[in-house]
Amino acid sequence: MAAMESLIALVNRIQRACTVLGDYGGEYSALPTIWETLPSVVVVGGQSSGKSSVLESIVGRDFLPRGSGIVTRRPLVLQLQKVEPGREEYAEFLHLPKKKFTDFSLVRKEIEDETDSLTGRLKQISPVPIHLSIYSPNVVNLTLIDLPGLTKVAVEGQPDSIVQDIESMVRTYIEQQNCIILAITPANQDIATSDAIKLSREVDSTGERTFGVLTKLDLMDNGTNALEVLDGRSYRLQHPWVGVVNRSQADINKNIDMITARRREREFFASSVDYKHLAGTMGSEYLAKLLSKHLESQIKTCMPGIASLINKSIDEIEAELDQLGKPVSVDSGAQLYTILELCRAFDLVFKEHLHGGRPGGDR
Ligand code: GDP
Ligand code: NA
Ligand code: MG
Repeated sequence: MAAMESLIALVNRIQRACTVLGDYGGEYSALPTIWETLPSVVVVGGQSSGKSSVLESIVGRDFLPRGSGIVTRRPLVLQLQKVEPGREEYAEFLHLPKKKFTDFSLVRKEIEDETDSLTGRLKQISPVPIHLSIYSPNVVNLTLIDLPGLTKVAVEGQPDSIVQDIESMVRTYIEQQNCIILAITPANQDIATSDAIKLSREVDSTGERTFGVLTKLDLMDNGTNALEVLDGRSYRLQHPWVGVVNRSQADINKNIDMITARRREREFFASSVDYKHLAGTMGSEYLAKLLSKHLESQIKTCMPGIASLINKSIDEIEAELDQLGKPVSVDSGAQLYTILELCRAFDLVFKEHLHGGRPGGDR
């Protein structure tokens, strides 16, 4: 399993290096395809359904802007990188290379500032993603994407096109076949009106890459429960629905921390007459485990394909560097070297993983 973990970590680093390379990376046919091959997790849902809250609890850290209204206004591509136990936990933005954030409240502040810098302080949106990496011993290697929420009407200061703009933005992400959809649906609304379910059904009609997440179970009217949904009787997906209880706005205002929030969530399920029998398969921690198990099997399946793409990239980049002549001083040349080194490292680990067998590709 250690080999698989380092393979995933290497692919993540290759992805990030390719992102830095920008359009130039597009010249190497295999590099963008690597990015498209590896699964990522995208949250989809109506405004204030709890998307950012769910992502935070998967990561186990407080760092995302949350609240009522349109808070998330640019896509946030979040790469989680597992590091060795005992190593320091930190975050790093692609637009601020070499600046290590160890205070996660500053990460939130930077996301807010970087959002405002493109969209202004008005409630505008931008499709240009913010790239953030979190290095921690306590995460699984995983790419998560937070998106603006689907809305029905433009509010003061927003162009009328915003409703359609957000939907198109969300659609471009979830149409990708490698994308795992977290369809966030608040339990205190009728599931028939769930924007998340409506849109994910369009791009994933069989429901094999959609995970239904029911938020706000604590806010349901007295005397009602969500068992119809959680049992899959209201809307059936291939994967079981998971109910969660995130922090309320009052909890956020009071700075209730993640550990306390998780304990309260566990207590909610354990003590609920309606959900007690489901407690083992409910909650944020269970959701995180379910996702990482699913991702691991997905990644295993696509690893041989990635290995052959990486071999192809090695050939292409070597040829390119030969042409440029060494040593290359221009930035893109240096970046290519980095990618080449990472690809070679991947190739090595992959071959070892196969017990000294042939690489996955047909070179
Ligand atoms: P997003 O707009 O979908 O990203 O939603 P946020 O994560 O920003 O949450 C919107 C609001 O709903 C915040 O005030 C949260 O505190 C609140 N909220 C989210 N999930 C829950 C939940 O499970 N229970 C309660 N009581 N409030 C929640
Ligand atoms: Na919100
Ligand atoms: Mg949000």
